Amino acid sequence: MKKTPFIIGNWKMNLTLMEGVDFAQSLRKTLHDKKEIICGICPPSVFLKDICEALEDSGICVAAQNIHSEKNGAYTGEVSALMVKEIGCTHVLIGHSERRHIFHETDSFINAKIKVALSVNLKPIFCIGETLHEREDGRTNYVIDNQLKEGLRGINTDHIKDIVIAYEPVWAIGTGKTALPEQANEVHSFIRSFLSDGYGKDIANDLYIQYGGSVKAENTKELMAQPEIDGLLVGGASIRLESFLKIIEAASKQECF
Ligand code: PGA
Repeated sequence: MKKTPFIIGNWKMNLTLMEGVDFAQSLRKTLHDKKEIICGICPPSVFLKDICEALEDSGICVAAQNIHSEKNGAYTGEVSALMVKEIGCTHVLIGHSERRHIFHETDSFINAKIKVALSVNLKPIFCIGETLHEREDGRTNYVIDNQLKEGLRGINTDHIKDIVIAYEPVWAIGTGKTALPEQANEVHSFIRSFLSDGYGKDIANDLYIQYGGSVKAENTKELMAQPEIDGLLVGGASIRLESFLKIIEAASKQECF
């Protein structure tokens, strides 16, 4: 049976504080009492406290876009897992392709971040995905396998349950090129079998695997109709409330708007 869809919007480095808070308040009003969808947003770190306050007790998740791998210390400009947990975040993005490619984050750094997040009960949304070059070379599964192996190194059965996996092919992020729903489903299936080998079939089936990369209202239904796609990580189309709501509506199992 399909899980309740889990839709997260990643604002990246966009919006003003006032726009962000307005967005959160309107989202809260619109989703009030809607049980057929799980929803969340990833605001920039300086907005997190205000957004967490605006969404307190609403059931809408707030995720940080980044944390450091250390618990505390001399890391000027960084924020820790505990800091974002303390102000009310439930999740954190880890391993996003922009962090991997622009900020040169390695698999071992990502693994350390996942562990520190779990240590303070912050749920990692662990992002993985191949580049266009890797796909064209026929190395998609190899790359995904490697990112999973390295990123989840040392994560036991108890902890894996708190992790959401987001498959985001790098070539589809911010490019307008969405993976074909069947292409995405194939990789999701590969991820599910990796998880099943490591943690058992039941646990693997319970885990959420989201798809991300040029998601918009027009392709949401088709993506969500795929058996292995449990949710979506939305970038560009999550910055405007109207388009984000259209995606949420299209992803909902029932007509609820
Ligand atoms: P996009 O971004 O929807 O703008 O392609 C997705 C993401 O970066 O998570």
